[in-house]
Amino acid sequence: MARAPHFRPYRSAASPSSEPPFLSAQILDYEHRSKRFGRHILQGRSPGPGSVDLTSNDYLALSGDPWIIRGQREHLAARGRGQMRSDVFRHGGGILRRFEQDMAHWMGMPDAVLAQSGWKANVGLIQALGGPEVTVYLDMQAHMSLWEGARSGGSRVRPFKHNDPASLEKMLKRHGPGIVAVDSLYSTNGNLCPLADMADLADQFGALLVVDESHSLGLFGPAGAGLVAEFGLTAQVPFITASLSKAFAGRGGIVLGSPRHLEYFRYTSLPAIFSSALLDSEAAAFAATLEVIRQADGKRSALEDKAAYLRAELLDLGFDLAGSETHIMALQPGDEELTLEVREALEERDVFGSIFCWPAAGRGRALVRFSLHSDLPLSDLDRVVDACDGLRRQFRLSRWRGQGIRSRSAA
Ligand SMILES: Cc1ncc(COP(=O)(O)O)c(C=O)c1O
Repeated sequence: MARAPHFRPYRSAASPSSEPPFLSAQILDYEHRSKRFGRHILQGRSPGPGSVDLTSNDYLALSGDPWIIRGQREHLAARGRGQMRSDVFRHGGGILRRFEQDMAHWMGMPDAVLAQSGWKANVGLIQALGGPEVTVYLDMQAHMSLWEGARSGGSRVRPFKHNDPASLEKMLKRHGPGIVAVDSLYSTNGNLCPLADMADLADQFGALLVVDESHSLGLFGPAGAGLVAEFGLTAQVPFITASLSKAFAGRGGIVLGSPRHLEYFRYTSLPAIFSSALLDSEAAAFAATLEVIRQADGKRSALEDKAAYLRAELLDLGFDLAGSETHIMALQPGDEELTLEVREALEERDVFGSIFCWPAAGRGRALVRFSLHSDLPLSDLDRVVDACDGLRRQFRLSRWRGQGIRSRSAA
């Protein structure tokens, strides 16, 4: 009988002394920064069955939708998962291509190409469009994947002030044409981008505008087609990107633009070449999801109403929501230790939000984010209000970073 091979655990797990010094230095630095509070600030409790869970981006509550599950199950049963290969080897029609065309048609864009995630869509697009001679103008709060795309392409990065067209204009005047990248809806604070102003500036200075619609797709615009469509800007926006892991409740990403630009993206962006493509069975789920989302006006308006209710209540309690106009809103203690205490105080009241701290938020700008979804019971919203009322009594809000900055929605 063959003997089972004997595996020894890698010895570095045992002690820092057996690690190469560069690794020890990095890990010790991480441990020093992250374990100040006894554990990493992101490590909290998990919500239970009766908790109010505001940590998910499944904004239309579709992850368990029976129609979508049936669509994917039938596809899986009849055809299996699909091909395990890079997207550069996909040719012709098929369910992935049909879904791309349906998405383009729905969003009013010329064409679309799928990516494995929103991260890979953004990194790949900005990397492929960029280069050492290209300037990439980034909103200071643009998603990290857009920054990483600029870095990966070796582009020059010029950040401009968050949601500030005047700041962008100053930069464009100084540094000339390039790529302007913004989120349509910012995921930490729920602000909307002044898209029309950004599109006009891009036009005026001959820049290419890239709009990341990850948090708005499915929720805004005609039949949920997004904010670019809502503002009638499809002719002015050459590229839209999105994660399909928010309202689409799956795993994937997408880039929309002209067929010429998208062909270039497909064959030159590193994630498209060097990472396996989405599977047919995933496209089957997305195709069914698109059908549901198109007809989800009821869910969209329920979400809008619920978000407006909670925003108004929290503003009334004296929280500054830093201009949230949407279903995403954040309590902003700023200091990390204070943010951890706030999160724990919420968890004690069985309300769960997501902590954002460096590098997902600026240093000293830590926050607890609430992501609402359309199917939240009103009683859950009231539990959030009660919990926040408790926080107001427990903490001195005047110590919080956001306090005193008048929010746009309160104006
Ligand atoms: C604005 C934005 N863009 C892109 C991404 C990346 O998307 P994914 O999770 O599909 O990689 C996210 C997700 O965190 C996001 O919030």
